[in-house]
Amino acid sequence: MTILITGGAGFIGSNFIFYLLEHHPEDRIVCLDKLTYAGNLATLAPILNDPRFRFVQGDICDSAVVEQIFTVEKPHIVVNFAAESHVDRSIADPQVFLQTNILGTATLLESCRKYGVERFHQISTDEVYGDLPLDRLDLQFTEASPLCPHSPYSSSKAAADLLTLSYHRTYGLPVTISRCSNNYGPYQYPEKLIPLMFTRAVSDQPLPIYGNGLNVRDWIYVEDHCSAVDLILRKGKVGEVYNIGGNCEISNLVLVKRLLHSLGKSEDLITYVADRKGHDLRYAICSDKLQTELGWHPQTDFADGLRQTIRWYQDHPDWWCPLLNS
Ligand SMILES: NC(=O)c1ccc[n+]([C@@H]2O[C@H](COP(=O)([O-])OP(=O)(O)OC[C@H]3O[C@@H](n4cnc5c(N)ncnc54)[C@H](O)[C@@H]3O)[C@@H](O)[C@H]2O)c1
Repeated sequence: MTILITGGAGFIGSNFIFYLLEHHPEDRIVCLDKLTYAGNLATLAPILNDPRFRFVQGDICDSAVVEQIFTVEKPHIVVNFAAESHVDRSIADPQVFLQTNILGTATLLESCRKYGVERFHQISTDEVYGDLPLDRLDLQFTEASPLCPHSPYSSSKAAADLLTLSYHRTYGLPVTISRCSNNYGPYQYPEKLIPLMFTRAVSDQPLPIYGNGLNVRDWIYVEDHCSAVDLILRKGKVGEVYNIGGNCEISNLVLVKRLLHSLGKSEDLITYVADRKGHDLRYAICSDKLQTELGWHPQTDFADGLRQTIRWYQDHPDWWCPLLNS
């Protein structure tokens, strides 16, 4: 089976490629990635000469590039990780988010329709549901929750989800969608919370926390996200949306304090900065559907995952140092 993975030079896409090569050595993988600031070919360096793998640098919005891949590689499955993914950047400059996240997804869907695939899988986010109040811990997002995105990033992802579902209903395209909570683990660009705080803490720089730091996120170790997507590709029902969560809600402040503690650094490094515009309060995701219908369960608890992640960043300054201030 040939699997086209877009955005595979980024954080989750690269972890997913490593996961597939390890768990499905019979599959061939083609990665299409534009190599934006968030894409890093160094991550994929160990597999660039693997005969089961091919890397193509290109834009998912470029239909000529996408069609060329479909003609030559005839992928059975397409998994779309490619996206502009950082909320702060979407607030500063939304345009490229609309371009890549909506029009790029549209370009992929069109090629899937034209050439035919066994599955198009859209990697979405829990942020499409909006947020929940901090004082209603009984509430969680299910797949039936209405879409209510609040940032240009999450709005563009919600638009892509709707477009994907419309291709199923209108053209019968075999699609699935997964909506996952906050990922952490190796190869995450150091603008995102955990690697940002790690890279600053190790050099005793102030750690900027938005507002009062009480905003809550659900955290999942990236390998658990990868195993969930793999299961959905092989066992999921077409036309369906699956939530993926780590069942691990933590406020930003508690998370950063834990990180500082693990590194033996003082909490005095924490500095509170003006809150993010429209900052979502709490994300909490119910993944019962994935657990009961497909038998998926996250394997890594937060303490272990954080320890492994910290160890990875400690052992790989050659990977993240060049990215600071880039
Ligand atoms: N990081 C998270 O916590 C999280 C949580 C839920 C969902 N997601 C979703 O998972 C996907 C991957 O997220 P990530 O954190 O790995 O992102 P990332 O920013 O680390 O990687 C994105 C990758 O996409 C590539 N890319 C960007 N624009 C492109 C284009 N026009 N054409 C081709 N490639 C392009 C980049 O070069 C990069 O390699 C995204 O769709 C994101 O919305 C992320």
